[in-house]
Amino acid sequence: MLNRFRINGIEKVRFAVTEFEDACTFASQWGLSPAASDAAGAFLFRAQDGSEVEIVRAEPADPRRRPLGNSSGLSEITWGVSDEAALHALEAELCRDRAVEFDGDGVLHSVDDLGIRLAFRVTRRAEAPVEATRYNSPTRTDRLNQRAVRYDQARPHQISHVAMGVDDAAAAAQFYIERLGFIVSDRYANRGLFLRCSPSGNHHHLFLMNGRTPGTRLNHMAFKVRDVHEVIGGGQYIDSKGWKTFAGPGRHTVSSACFWYFLTPLGCAWEYAADEDIVNESWEAADFAATADIFSEWTFGLEKSDGRLRGPISVSKEAGASPAVSK
Ligand SMILES: [Fe+2]
Repeated sequence: MLNRFRINGIEKVRFAVTEFEDACTFASQWGLSPAASDAAGAFLFRAQDGSEVEIVRAEPADPRRRPLGNSSGLSEITWGVSDEAALHALEAELCRDRAVEFDGDGVLHSVDDLGIRLAFRVTRRAEAPVEATRYNSPTRTDRLNQRAVRYDQARPHQISHVAMGVDDAAAAAQFYIERLGFIVSDRYANRGLFLRCSPSGNHHHLFLMNGRTPGTRLNHMAFKVRDVHEVIGGGQYIDSKGWKTFAGPGRHTVSSACFWYFLTPLGCAWEYAADEDIVNESWEAADFAATADIFSEWTFGLEKSDGRLRGPISVSKEAGASPAVSK
């Protein structure tokens, strides 16, 4: 049955990091709102819809503070479900072959087949009102006598997706498809799968791709912003703070999103993304050849591996460059 667990998006991502202060500074400059902190060294940030990023100090001996794959990195992904019954259905499904546990807050914790710590909770996200961007087209005026919105800093609306580097993406995807009911939206042949957790909504919530280095680690996490102007305005602000571009700005071929990725102190890249494909049951998955230029149909700053594109921001790709951070 499609979406039998009524999973509806990413609630929270927890990072365990060695550079705690830098990581918290980055999250704040990214445009997330500080929500809570505790004496044990945990800081909680929220996007506009209530989806959360928790940053804790890495402590490899503590499973809750153990980063995956690197000295800093992903600690746990929490998925939102629509109701309590879905949580209990998930518990019944997962306890067949792995440990599952409810914590005192009613959050269900378990693990996927690769050891990625998963949690599930009744969603606390709520759609924050967003005024639709008005565009003027050659034959249609939607913004008359009105200046366009200018973004000095991004205010991410939601966590859009996470992208995991794994050894075998097809094998890793089986757990999410067969046990959790995720759906394949598109594929890179022999390279990766774009999965969505519900039939309707974002093109993907989880991208699993064969990594260049062995092991499982979070490659990047994407935040949805209102439009391409917020991608650029937010990215320019992050750039002005000395953080280094990983790729972009550009536009993806798969999912159509405009993007800008930055290197972070959290053991992965973070991505601003806007205008991604929204799909429903009628969407037809396609296979894309994993060719050199499929990552982006256009971009600045990323020297495409086929040599066709070189951009003006490629200074950020300087070998050995380390972020000079202003705080
Ligand atoms: Fe992405």
